[in-house]
Amino acid sequence: MRRKLVAGNWKMNGNLAANSTLLNELVAALGTSAACDVAVCAPAPYLSQCQQQLAGSVVAWGAQDLSAHESGAYTGEVAGAMLADFGCKYVIVGHSERRAYHAESNALVAQKTLQALHSGLVPIVCVGETLAQREAGQTEQIVGEQLGAVLVLLEPAQLKRIVVAYEPVWAIGTGKTATPQMAQDVHASLRGLLAARDADAAATTAILYGGSMKPDNARELMAMPDIDGGLIGGAALKSADFLAIINAAS
Ligand code: G3P
Repeated sequence: MRRKLVAGNWKMNGNLAANSTLLNELVAALGTSAACDVAVCAPAPYLSQCQQQLAGSVVAWGAQDLSAHESGAYTGEVAGAMLADFGCKYVIVGHSERRAYHAESNALVAQKTLQALHSGLVPIVCVGETLAQREAGQTEQIVGEQLGAVLVLLEPAQLKRIVVAYEPVWAIGTGKTATPQMAQDVHASLRGLLAARDADAAATTAILYGGSMKPDNARELMAMPDIDGGLIGGAALKSADFLAIINAAS
């Protein structure tokens, strides 16, 4: 039985005051136990704030990106070890906004995944097709290439330490959600790719859904056999919505 994970991706939102309120509300509402794993992925400048407010709570924290390099002359980049220094458990890699706006290739995303693992972080590897790709019947091929580029670099032990997130690009921030069955079909094919490498990893790896997951559709999506939680954008910015999604995972 896989434990579900609900992770918030704050994207480039928040400030010290608003974050403080949001984090306090989450910690107070969740208490000492949550029915699923919970995390927030904050902008890098606020990771220290997350560490201060979340240490000892059931809410883990993480970053939204990391460098493909270990250290050195890479102005503006943030290394995995730096994220680990601030207590991060997770780091998102290959989000479609990074792929689209920062030209991140499958190969770069795979390198970032390796760096995350080397730094002791759990990479949340994002894959997803555009609307044009879905309409052209290319969904499985596209997400298969995206995940395949990562899997080919990983040793069996590393395969068991990743989280995968399926985020159809057309569903992100649009209010359009994949139906539970559409998402389940893609999740099952991603699990099949994991199984082709390692059956144990396929059985234990969490595959999250992301893309307009909200309190009113979360339960139905997470009830599907291969949907192990959510990567939540907009709805992670309001504690009531995020908490309702966490409750829907139980
Ligand atoms: O990474 C989460 C994300 O891209 C989904 O965003 O706002 O559609 O929940 P949203």
